[in-house]
Amino acid sequence: MSQVAVLDPLVAQQVVAGEVVDRPASVVKELSENALDAGATRVEVEIADGGRERMLVRDDGSGMSEGDTKLSVLRHATSKIRTASDIESVMTMGFRGEALPSIASVSAFSLTTSTGEGGGTNVVTDGGGKVSVSPASHPKGTTVLIDRLFYNAPARRAFLKSARAERAAIVEVLTNLAITHPQVMFRLVEQGRQVFYLAAAKDLLERLAQLYGVGKARVM
Ligand SMILES: Nc1ncnc2c1ncn2[C@@H]1O[C@H](COP(=O)(O)OP(=O)(O)OP(=O)(O)O)[C@@H](O)[C@H]1O
Ligand SMILES: [Mg+2]
Repeated sequence: MSQVAVLDPLVAQQVVAGEVVDRPASVVKELSENALDAGATRVEVEIADGGRERMLVRDDGSGMSEGDTKLSVLRHATSKIRTASDIESVMTMGFRGEALPSIASVSAFSLTTSTGEGGGTNVVTDGGGKVSVSPASHPKGTTVLIDRLFYNAPARRAFLKSARAERAAIVEVLTNLAITHPQVMFRLVEQGRQVFYLAAAKDLLERLAQLYGVGKARVM
């Protein structure tokens, strides 16, 4: 341990990914936060094997232009701040520009998006840092597909819990986001079966009633 070396950028990205992404639920959290930051009224999540095999997060938010889509998977690429002082007034859930590149570095990643004007864009990365961008059709909004989380980090993949435990963590993430965003519809589907569904509510009281029943919501 006597030689100091600067890490290869991909290795450095995977190290950072360790802080952002530790299990399927953290991927769902980051992607759903992006959807909410983009003004989505619907956040739909599909998973296979508790998210360990596949996760898809679809939103009806602003979508991205082709140029923004290409940038979004690069480190420190964000639309949410421009200067250090913006950090003090940031209103969005994310602002570091770390989530998408981190997730992409430890999975097979595909993002398809459209602003609803002109055609849409698909960007695919393979965890190895290779990025390919092509035109794709998509309604206004964004869909991100994550296959085989940690396929290139076997030690971390081995650390994943059972499908049941990972699914429960995803439900918890969605529940927390649903409480802070009552007007948004949330749905979680696992292999065609709806696991969690909350229609858009008019306010926090209605959202709490959806989650915990009317009686309990009133005293919360
Ligand atoms: N679902 C989405 N809809 C529209 N734009 C998106 C979506 N997801 C990501 N983006 C754009 O891509 C950028 C990068 O996303 P990413 O999550 O990596 O960083 P961030 O949200 O800015 O910060 P953080 O790393 O703290 O989450 C965002 O700033 C946003 O402009
Ligand atoms: Mg983000």
